[in-house]
Amino acid sequence: MTVHYLPGVQRSAPTAVIVVAAGSGERLGESVPKAFVELDDRTILQHAVSRIARLPAANLIVVVVPGRLVVRARMDVMFGRPRVQVTAGGAQRSDSVRAGIEHIMAAAPETEVILVHDAARPLTPTAVFNRVIDAVTSGHRAVVPGIPVVDTLKEVVVEGERVSVRGTIDREMLRAIQTPQGFSVDALTRAYADPTELATDDAGLAERCGIPVHVVEGDALAFKITTPWDLRIARGVVAESGPEELP
Ligand code: C5P
Repeated sequence: MTVHYLPGVQRSAPTAVIVVAAGSGERLGESVPKAFVELDDRTILQHAVSRIARLPAANLIVVVVPGRLVVRARMDVMFGRPRVQVTAGGAQRSDSVRAGIEHIMAAAPETEVILVHDAARPLTPTAVFNRVIDAVTSGHRAVVPGIPVVDTLKEVVVEGERVSVRGTIDREMLRAIQTPQGFSVDALTRAYADPTELATDDAGLAERCGIPVHVVEGDALAFKITTPWDLRIARGVVAESGPEELP
């Protein structure tokens, strides 16, 4: 296989990871913001960061949390980890990612590759991070992990209380997209150049700028904790495997 390197982006290019953890997580129904909910004796955020801290490629890890929890998060995730820094996020996920990008540009301007990861996916295997980093360093400017969709998906028409099917979507052509999503610095800064643009994922903003987005294999363990049911599954996985034994 021929490997094409981006001009300026080389293998082992300086890489930073933004971990967004500034959401309220209202759908989880807990009294603290989602990232601060415990899976065992450690929070969702602590699990997410400890996995990323195992990646030799991550030169800088920027954790973005609600402003009022910056001091608490520093105590939770920075101890003994000089590569981890904490900053305050914003009202929307996109605002939090922007805060992370600005932090990286100030703290490590030599960075060439940025990964954006949801703290709410704390069990994401390190192999997924490595696949994303490898794809960016081999020339793809925007990379997302995706997994096949198992349910049948239908487009519906909603008229008041009445919901009816308009048609069935061919799921072979669909992928459920996860994080971490990886970008060359120029692609991510271009995607986030307009402060009014909002999207549920980072690649969505890159797509709007016409940047091609490459898909690598995701992993079922990279699921996002959103509902109480997801939290139950995550706690079960951690209890069964022991956190350090997870891939
Ligand atoms: O709400 P949702 O689970 O989709 O959020 C995905 C990720 O984005 C979570 O890790 C959450 O903490 C983060 N987020 C953020 N700032 C916001 C909203 C969400 O960092 N304002």
